[in-house]
Amino acid sequence: MSSELIDEFIAAVPMPALMVDQTERIIAANTDSKTLLGPNIQGRHFATILRQPQVIDTIENSLRSKGHTKTRHLSNDGAQDTTFEVECRYMNGIGAVSGGAVLVVFQDVTHLEQASQMRRDFVANVSHELRTPLTALMGFIETLRGPARDDAAARERFLKIMTDEAYRMNRLVGDLLSLNRVESEERVRPTEQVDINGLLQSILNALRPLSDDASVELSLTAPEGPVMVTGDSDQLRQVFTNLVENGIKYGGSGGSVEIKLIPSERNIAIRGPAVRVQVIDKGPGIDAVHLPRLTERFYRADNHRSRQLGGTGLGLAIVKHIVNRHRGRLRVESDLGKGSVFTVILPR
Ligand SMILES: Nc1ncnc2c1ncn2[C@@H]1O[C@H](COP(=O)(O)OP(=O)(O)OP(=O)(O)O)[C@@H](O)[C@H]1O
Ligand SMILES: [Mg+2]
Repeated sequence: MSSELIDEFIAAVPMPALMVDQTERIIAANTDSKTLLGPNIQGRHFATILRQPQVIDTIENSLRSKGHTKTRHLSNDGAQDTTFEVECRYMNGIGAVSGGAVLVVFQDVTHLEQASQMRRDFVANVSHELRTPLTALMGFIETLRGPARDDAAARERFLKIMTDEAYRMNRLVGDLLSLNRVESEERVRPTEQVDINGLLQSILNALRPLSDDASVELSLTAPEGPVMVTGDSDQLRQVFTNLVENGIKYGGSGGSVEIKLIPSERNIAIRGPAVRVQVIDKGPGIDAVHLPRLTERFYRADNHRSRQLGGTGLGLAIVKHIVNRHRGRLRVESDLGKGSVFTVILPR
C-alpha cells in the first residue's frame, strides 16, 4: 500500500488510530490520535509517544507475534480521566520494512466504566441502607428471646422500634421500585389532563395531620378554578407530596410551609406557557455545598436528622425523574438560616 493510501485509510478511522511498522516508528496517525497524543507523533518511535508500559508491551507483542492484542490506556487532559481500550491488529504487506505493520486503535470506554462504577455504588448504597434497619431488627429479636424475655414493658418498647425499622425497609423497597418505574418510562410523555390546583388542595388535606403534629401552618396560594396541565396525576402527586413533606420535616422549625401556584403565559426556561409551583419553608435551609447533589439517590444534606425522620434519601431523585418526564424543571434555592424554596416548572 502506498503511504498516501495508508494516510487516507488512517484518516477515515472514526476514532484515534495510528500505525506502527517493523522499524517501530509511527508511520501514520489520524487527527484524533494527534489530539490525544500530540501533534508531532508521525515518524517517532512509538515507545517515546505511548509511555504506558502495558501499551508498549502490547504493541511490541503484536509486532513480534504478527497477531491481535489489546489493552487499556488511561489519559488525563487535566480535567478528567479518560479510559481507552487499545486494540492492535497486525496487517501484512505494509510499512517501510517488508513484513507489515500494526494498526493501533483507541476506543473511548469511559462511559462504560462510569456506568459500571455507578452500578457498583448503587448496589453498595442499597445494601448499606437495608443493612442498618436489618441489623437493628436482628439485635432486638436476640434481646426479646434472651434478656427481655419476661419483661412486658421492654417488649412493648422493642416491638415499637422493630415496627418502625420494618416500615423503613418497606418504604425503601417501595421507593426503589417507584424510582425504577419512573426511570423506565421517563421517555414516554404523559397524556392525562390534570388540574394542578385541585391536586395541590388534596395533597394539603392529606398532609394536614403531619403538619398539625409538627405545629406547622400549611397554606396554598393559587388562582380561582382549575389549572390544567398535561401530566401523570399519580406521579405529580408524588412530586408535590415529597416536596411539602420535606418542607414540614426539614423546614418545619420555621413554623410555616407555603405553597404557591403561579400560571404564566410564557416561561423562559420552558419557552412557552407554564405553571410554577413553589414550596417555601422558613426552616434552617440547605448549605450551598449540598445543592448540586441534592437530587442524587440516597443523598441527604443532614444525614443524621434525615435518617432519624425515616427518610430514604430517594424522594428528590424520584421528583427529578418525574419532572424530567414532564419536560419540566426543578429549581432549589436556599439561604442558610432563612429557609428553602423548591420550584417545579411544568409546561402547560
Ligand atoms: N425543605 C428542606 N429543608 C432542608 N433540607 C431539606 C429540605 N428538603 C430536603 N432537604 C434535604 O435533602 C435531603 C434529600 O431529600 P429527599 O426528599 O430526597 O430524601 P428524604 O426526605 O430524606 O427521604 P424520602 O423523601 O424518601 O422520605 C433530605 O434528607 C434533607 O437533608
Ligand atoms: Mg423527602
